[in-house]
Amino acid sequence: MDFTISTQEAYLSNYRASVEQPEQFWEEIAHHYSWMKPWENVLDFDMKDARFTWFQHGKLNITVNAIDRHLEARGKKTALLFEPNDPNEEAQHITYNELSERVNKLSNVLKGIGIQKGDRVCIYLPMIPELAVSVLACARIGAIHSVVFAGFSSSAVAARIQDSACKIVITSDGGYRGNKSIELKKIVDEALVNCPSVQNTLIFKRTGDPIEMKDGFDLDASTLLKEAKDICTPEIMDSEDPLFILYTSGSTGKPKGMVHTTGGYMVYTGYTFKNVFQYQEEDIFWCTADIGWITGHSYLLYGALLNGATTVMFEGIPSYPDFGRFWKVIDKHKITHLYTAPTAIRSLAKESIDWVNSHDLSSLKILGSVGEPINEEAWHWYDTHIGKGKCPIVDTWWQTETGGILISPIPNVTVTKPTYATLPLPGVQPVLMNEQSQPIEGNGVTGNLCLQFPWPSIARTIWEDHQRYKDTYFSTYPGYYFTGDGALRDETGYYRITGRVDDIVIVSGHNLGTAPIEDAINEHPAVAESALVGFPHDIKGNALYGFIILKDNAIQENEDQLRKEINQHISEHIGPIAKLDKMQFVSGLPKTRSGKIMRRILRKIAEGDFSNFGDISTLLNPDVVEDIVSGKCS
Ligand code: PRX
Repeated sequence: MDFTISTQEAYLSNYRASVEQPEQFWEEIAHHYSWMKPWENVLDFDMKDARFTWFQHGKLNITVNAIDRHLEARGKKTALLFEPNDPNEEAQHITYNELSERVNKLSNVLKGIGIQKGDRVCIYLPMIPELAVSVLACARIGAIHSVVFAGFSSSAVAARIQDSACKIVITSDGGYRGNKSIELKKIVDEALVNCPSVQNTLIFKRTGDPIEMKDGFDLDASTLLKEAKDICTPEIMDSEDPLFILYTSGSTGKPKGMVHTTGGYMVYTGYTFKNVFQYQEEDIFWCTADIGWITGHSYLLYGALLNGATTVMFEGIPSYPDFGRFWKVIDKHKITHLYTAPTAIRSLAKESIDWVNSHDLSSLKILGSVGEPINEEAWHWYDTHIGKGKCPIVDTWWQTETGGILISPIPNVTVTKPTYATLPLPGVQPVLMNEQSQPIEGNGVTGNLCLQFPWPSIARTIWEDHQRYKDTYFSTYPGYYFTGDGALRDETGYYRITGRVDDIVIVSGHNLGTAPIEDAINEHPAVAESALVGFPHDIKGNALYGFIILKDNAIQENEDQLRKEINQHISEHIGPIAKLDKMQFVSGLPKTRSGKIMRRILRKIAEGDFSNFGDISTLLNPDVVEDIVSGKCS
């Protein structure tokens, strides 16, 4: 595939073409892929009703493009490079030939147990090759994968399984994360108590810890794989057949099952992988995100494999067995691209620089950042100490909903600027909105970030809730997709993302809705009501601050114990990533006369800014503000 943009002129002319003649532009790119039947119409859309059809009636299978198509020229090339949690366990180099065999076999196993096109398959696995193979096997047979990050609790897994009525759960006995091991099968067992749609589980082995297997229900993957044939004809998929569901936090309690379809997602992730990373044949690409998040889906897996790349899967964490692990892995595998999150950069930057300097990082060519705004200090540390001033940093802005990167520098083409995601990629038309809901013209302005034209990998809907999709993204500014982010456009037209403008807080790069966490807190028997806000945190970017009203009869003598219990409660309901950093027990919450919590006041208090709360005259209970300020957590 060669649609690489390698000069500034090429970027400008491609961008112009993508805006002036979007259909011709994307059609030309789509021709680089293998289709079983060509599309009849490139694009049909309605921004008001949130309906998008790309490459209508085209037939394809994404695994043919991600695997089969490479076998002749790259069969012996490493597709997946697996680096285990334990540095003493040998890395695995899985070639395209081997990947093909494993995906085909697992596809046959899934078919053998009755999984068909359109069925939903929940995948709850650690970062082991079987996770990638499971995702691809679903895609091969047309089953819709729903990967749930293996750090989520049993209730969070259950909620996701129930929402899309998954027929099967693929999991493992357990998984490793640093010096911990997690009993995944046990978590799934707990989840399945409330999931009647699930007919079977398929279990891989990772830790070898003893697990309980229910006869006829829990199926051992290795036994079934031994007997499976290694050829499985790829299912013929329509461009608009769903490829996967991936859940993201919402501002109400229920997670949103974002639905991505096949053709447009393939065209866009392959195209952006190639350009944003300027990928070349011998490169070794390392995206540190878990496949449980969109970054893992689109760039660790699909985008990379669509380009025939070698992609690294790392099972561990940056601090295990020591803070040199990332740098050791880069040195060991001669990695050329590191794509990671600002949180990881900040947490490693605070450790001794000797961890970095004792490894040879000269293989690196391009560095990437994703998931949250990167602060200036972290940007410079990344540039100086990891890139040694010679690797362009691509600060890539996008979302689960967008499927692929929308705003990012193109390395060695776009001049980078610290903390700026810079310019829109071809096909992407950003707009900033002012408080009157009007697009803001010109440069040197800030506003709410919207997109005014569809790109091929835009999410098509929320699983079985199109109304919520419309309400969440297309109703604030009719005719536009609203991202939920604020942004600044500088004098030269470069974009800088300033952060969320809604009730979602990005903690360590994880997108957390405050509402579901509040729901979990409120379920604690001692709690009457709670409100959460984010506040700036040196390492995590943001952390959570909870203002909690206890019930009258709650014993407050042992507050520390209560704090522990509440965090434990959150861990069980959502996962440890959603735990609060600060908790303040308060007598009331600032509410408007209509009963809405005035969160901007709580945000200011959490940030330690008591200077100006603005107009609080509309509050039902203005006295409560002073009370909260006087009891603020340090
Ligand atoms: O607020 C933006 C932030 O992450 C949000 C999307 O989160 P999620 O769907 O989990 O996807 C993360 C990985 C693509 C966005 O609305 N975000 C993502 N990338 C950046 C960012 N904020 C600033 N700069 C970025 N590069």
